Amino acid sequence: MSKRNILVTAGLPYANGSIHLGHLVEYIQTDIWVRFQKMNGHQCFYICGSDSHGTPIMLKAQTKNIPAEKLVTEIRKEHIQDFKNFYVAFDNYYTTHSDENRVLTESIYKKLVATHDITTKEIEQAYDAEKNIFLPDRFVKGECPKCGAKDQYGDNCEVCGTTYTPTDLKNPKSVLSGTTPITKKSLHYFFQLPHYTNKLRAWMSEGHLQEQTIRKLDEWFEQGLQAWDISRDAPYFGFEIPDAPGKYFYVWLEAPIGYMASFKNFCDQRDDINFDDYWSKNAKTELYHFIGKDIMYFHSLFWPAVLMGANFRTPTAIYVHGFLTVNGYKMSKSRGTFINASTYSKHLNPEYLRYYFAAKLSSHIEDIDLNLEDFRLRINSDLVGKVVNIASRCAKFINTQFNNKLSKHLPEQDLLNTFMTAGDEIAKYYESREYSQAVRKIMSLADMANQYIDEKKPWALIKEDTHAARAQEICSVGLNLFRLLMLYLKPILPELAKQTECFLKIAPLTWADHQTVLTNHDIEIFQPLMQRIDPADIEKMLEDAKADE
Ligand code: 2FM
Ligand code: ZN
Repeated sequence: MSKRNILVTAGLPYANGSIHLGHLVEYIQTDIWVRFQKMNGHQCFYICGSDSHGTPIMLKAQTKNIPAEKLVTEIRKEHIQDFKNFYVAFDNYYTTHSDENRVLTESIYKKLVATHDITTKEIEQAYDAEKNIFLPDRFVKGECPKCGAKDQYGDNCEVCGTTYTPTDLKNPKSVLSGTTPITKKSLHYFFQLPHYTNKLRAWMSEGHLQEQTIRKLDEWFEQGLQAWDISRDAPYFGFEIPDAPGKYFYVWLEAPIGYMASFKNFCDQRDDINFDDYWSKNAKTELYHFIGKDIMYFHSLFWPAVLMGANFRTPTAIYVHGFLTVNGYKMSKSRGTFINASTYSKHLNPEYLRYYFAAKLSSHIEDIDLNLEDFRLRINSDLVGKVVNIASRCAKFINTQFNNKLSKHLPEQDLLNTFMTAGDEIAKYYESREYSQAVRKIMSLADMANQYIDEKKPWALIKEDTHAARAQEICSVGLNLFRLLMLYLKPILPELAKQTECFLKIAPLTWADHQTVLTNHDIEIFQPLMQRIDPADIEKMLEDAKADE
């Protein structure tokens, strides 16, 4: 297989709140994919950063009485630590509040002006006359114009599902001051998305999107694409639009440009990577965006259209995933299931969660459920009971009876071959993001390995001098099977794989290593690799999570 050059992004998290388990679905899904590519020897970069601009961030900083710059810097640091705890290994984690992003955003905007894709129009918007600020939809609350439900946001009703604008609400109130908003006129800048209808339709049919995304896009095309409002009035934390004093780029215009900016910042730290190789119109490299289903519109319509207009390449694919539910429901504070990443990692091993998510993830846009009881049982039975158990069962004898050495000869070539050839099937599952199928296959191999040890009973053979050599061979086969299982699990469990590499005294496992075995090889003294989950730890985590927001 020839070496691929791949650039991968995950959505840039807003720098105004903590990373929670829902966020982690995406970063872990993406991280597994990137690690798999790297194990295969491809050049693959995982790029991300803080989404640092916009009204909610500006207002949050005001409430805390600190400059917005300080808020986003602090939160970015916190996020970096959370990602590290979960072994989410970005090649670069930057911020949209950067010179690189400003320069790129301005230059893209100017190109869109040159292609006549930017127009202006005066619009009316809700305005808080006490706070002197235009109110984003979510900052106006009132009664739903359709069903009358109270306390609904200005964009849609959570009771009947109707979508509308804040000016449609009955008895609207500003969330900021509690006063009734007035409507005020202001000049806004628009990106003429309809100019790209045909190009987007063509792009959509070229295999860059999942079936479900295409169906959604078909609906949007049927409704007709609308011009996109890309400006916001001061006060706004963001970039001012060139030649438009007091007007700022809407955060959603410059957030995806943040992918480019983070990559630009990365290239500037390295001599061997060229920005244009990844972003110019005729780039030969691959570009993937992993995102949640809520931001599909931005990534599958606005973003490719902006790239087309500004004469950049478009994404190779956009991989959309569903949301996380906990115990069958939307994560919620009142149910005590709104769990921050840092709260989880205080009580439980992050690799448990990586494994559990992988066991549930597919290439479809379905929600996945974290059922905490199922989570505990699954980790205890799969990882501790099946996988790690193979090593502990076999290592004991190799350590104590055979001077830490694996046998020269390995019997059971058929069994070893079954494990080695499974690598191609498992690789296909990883590549196509069918992680649950990869996990299922790996666990069926783990069952075979345990069955093999059960049948051969090395603990009985070891007692008879004449059969001791046979016991060494069986345990050596067992440890080889364990090595292959850990190789296949490495994208999901990088830390456990690292401990395994130390224990087996081997170089970092690559995917190609699935075609090899270890014979006549020294290993370390076995140390317990993973503990069972104690239900009390889950309880303690849930107790702590009550304070999460
Ligand atoms: O929805 C969100 O959380 C956004 N901050 C994601 C931005 S993704 C990209 F466009 F930057
Ligand atoms: Zn309603």
